[in-house]
Amino acid sequence: MNEIKFYSGENIPLEMHKVRIVQKLYLPPVEERLKLINEAGNNAYLLNNRNIYMDMLTDSGVNAMSDNQQAAMLRADDAYAGSETFVRLEAKVLELFGMDYFLPAHQGRACENIISNTLVNLGDVIPMNYHFTTTKSHIEKAGGRVEEVVIKEGLNPKSDYPFKGNFDIEYLRKVIKEVGREHIPFVRVEVGTNLIGGQPISLANMREVRKVCDEFGIMLMMDASLLQDNLYFIKEREEECKNMSIREITMEIANLMDMLYFSARKLGFARGGGICLRDKNIANKMSEFVTLYEGFLTYGGMSVREMEAMTIGLEETMDEEIINQGPKFIEYMVNELVKKGIPVVTPAGGLGCHLDANLFIPQVPQQEYPSAALSVALYIAGGIRGMERGTLSEDRNEDGSEHFSKMELLRLAMPRRVFTLSQVKYAIDRIVWLYENRELIGGLRFVYEPKILRFFLGRLEPTSDWQTKLAEKFRQDFGDSL
Ligand SMILES: Cc1ncc(COP(=O)(O)O)c(C=O)c1O
Repeated sequence: MNEIKFYSGENIPLEMHKVRIVQKLYLPPVEERLKLINEAGNNAYLLNNRNIYMDMLTDSGVNAMSDNQQAAMLRADDAYAGSETFVRLEAKVLELFGMDYFLPAHQGRACENIISNTLVNLGDVIPMNYHFTTTKSHIEKAGGRVEEVVIKEGLNPKSDYPFKGNFDIEYLRKVIKEVGREHIPFVRVEVGTNLIGGQPISLANMREVRKVCDEFGIMLMMDASLLQDNLYFIKEREEECKNMSIREITMEIANLMDMLYFSARKLGFARGGGICLRDKNIANKMSEFVTLYEGFLTYGGMSVREMEAMTIGLEETMDEEIINQGPKFIEYMVNELVKKGIPVVTPAGGLGCHLDANLFIPQVPQQEYPSAALSVALYIAGGIRGMERGTLSEDRNEDGSEHFSKMELLRLAMPRRVFTLSQVKYAIDRIVWLYENRELIGGLRFVYEPKILRFFLGRLEPTSDWQTKLAEKFRQDFGDSL
């Protein structure tokens, strides 16, 4: 991977692109931020984008497109059935992953719906390194259950282990023996493991997982939504891959899988998704669900323009200079926060920078949703929107009790090629201020709580007047600054 050094010795990431289209931003004054977040039920999802200065909610569907993607969108072939656009997309996907069938879907969770409907039966168990919110909901809706087998380092925000998304292989074997292979339709590998801080899994570990699957005759499936970051980390951190191209690493990983699916809102810098597989019978079965839930087999709910952008975006994912941008900016942010003593997940992963809410605000107990409280506090402090990835992102247990998350994180996603370094510095500055004033932050409680995926639409209120005090302290410290 190319390195560009600064004469000054400063270690900062350098943008390998230039900005040619811009969007004006607005930063409301702190009093307005306080009012707006309360009107949004203290749920960052319910804020309007116009009132957000830095939208670090997600990298999903909000990455900057390249000039080549934009150009490709103009030549899209609009047809309900058999469009040339789909032919191009299908060829690219099958070329990169070396599989036999590609089924389009409108986004990642739509793939999960189709996969669960096709393969998961009542009482089934799906072992995986770690769950993702929508994945778990779809599996449970189909009557199955998730069993997490990530290594213990994965759940330790302070561990510097380079592949915290790895499977605990012995534990995986134990789970399979206990459950019985007949109740395990597939093992799921999530690359760039989202909910534990965008942490990668190594190629060596995936090989081990494959061996276990072969031993028991179980299919292996990859959720490739966050593959691009994982590819970068494998190349950077795994000795045997240092001299391999990203394309070669991609193929090496795909060769281990029976099936894979992805959200193209992440992989491919567009908006869409799809499933790749080798088995004709399963492909046929899934095709019926594609036509039922998504659309005809040659668009699957996606617009042809997005499909064209995705084809180019997937090819661009094979370019190290393109996929290194996210991890490099994230690494800069994480390292700067570590220097300032802020509790963040280390080592820097993909996807974004993850604040450890349990350590940031230990005074807020898990039943008062510390990660959500921190997200509200950061919006008040800087007009920055992050995503709660903790207990609020877990739905309640069957008996109505809270399902406490293993980690309490506030994820500050880094949409690719969207923010400049000075904006990242601004975010760091406001986080540092918030940390110095952390004793002012209190908890939240629900006033409206949906049963499924409650974090999307739930509404909450503060457990005290802590938000007003935080806004007043901001005014006191920053004077008339926004
Ligand atoms: C690992 C993983 N799987 C699945 C999904 C679901 O994808 P989508 O948001 O496109 O439905 C996501 C989205 O963030 C994800 O990160």
